Parts: sequence; structure tokens; C-alpha cells
Amino acid sequence: MTHIREIAQLGNPVLRHPAEIVTDIDSSETQELIRVLQDTLASTQGVGIAAPQISVSRQIIIIASRPSTRYPHAPLMTPTVMINPRFKALSDDKEKDWEGCLSIPGIRALVPRYKNILITYTDTNGLLIETCLEGFVARIFQHEFDHLEGKVYLDNVVDNRDIFSESEYFKFIAQTN
Ligand code: NI
Repeated sequence: MTHIREIAQLGNPVLRHPAEIVTDIDSSETQELIRVLQDTLASTQGVGIAAPQISVSRQIIIIASRPSTRYPHAPLMTPTVMINPRFKALSDDKEKDWEGCLSIPGIRALVPRYKNILITYTDTNGLLIETCLEGFVARIFQHEFDHLEGKVYLDNVVDNRDIFSESEYFKFIAQTN
């Protein structure tokens, strides 16, 4: 049985609320929420999801980089559930690259993000994990982390000319690859 939930769209106030810390990882409610997030993400072409996107204001994200028509150059990784994630930049280096969001369909934009970050999170078994991320996977993490703070990626765009319709983005990407 799959558990797919509707994705909250930009303008829905739930995307603008800071999410609450999760303290009951073992509870059936939290484990069910994780299953719903996993199934909902798997039903899309997305590479990450945050609980507020299914209208649950709790600090859980999934990072699931994989090549797809939405992100043809994404590295393949095992989808990873991260509870109460935190990060710090390992250097001030940022780079601009393309992002999209399941809550903002039809749009892509260039967003500056830290290239190398140190992250901590609690896994689904309650273990505290610390690891480093770089490049596109670090980008996905920072995008999903924003959702937990009530932000969306468009808030980080530095120039409105960096915002493209998805159809123009695909034309542009086809030309440059
Ligand atoms: Ni998003």
C-alpha cells in the first residue's frame, strides 16, 4: 500500500512556517509520516522533499539525488531520511546552479549555495549522524533545509533574471549540454 499525499503549493501558509523539532522518532505517527514522505517523493521526479511540503510542519527531510528528466546530471544515491537536520558551511565558497521545487511547478532558477557543508541529523533509528556533503547533494540539502525554516529557494535568488520558465530552462540546458 502506498501513502501519497498532495504537495503543498507556493502560497500555502504551511510552506512559510518554521517546522517543529521531532522528539518522538519511534512513535508510530512519526514512522508513518516518514513512509508517507518516502512514497510521495517516489511518486515524483523530485530529488528531495521536506515534511512541510505535505503540510506537516515537522523537521524531517529526504535527500534522494538520482538522474531524472528533471535533473539529468544528478548523482545516484540511496534516499536518506534526515530528522532535525543542521548544517554549517565548511568554506564561504558558493556556486550558482539550477533548482526547482515540487511546490513551485513550472519554474527553475539559479541559486547560490555553499559547495561544501558539514551536516548532522538523526536517522530513522534515532542515531545521530555527522557527515560532509558537496556539490549537488549539498545543494539539495540546503534547499530542503530552507523548507524547514519556512523559506523557499526563490527567496535566495539574487537576480530576477535568474528565474526561468521550465520550458525555457529545458531549451537552454539542451543548448549547453
Ligand atoms: Ni522544494
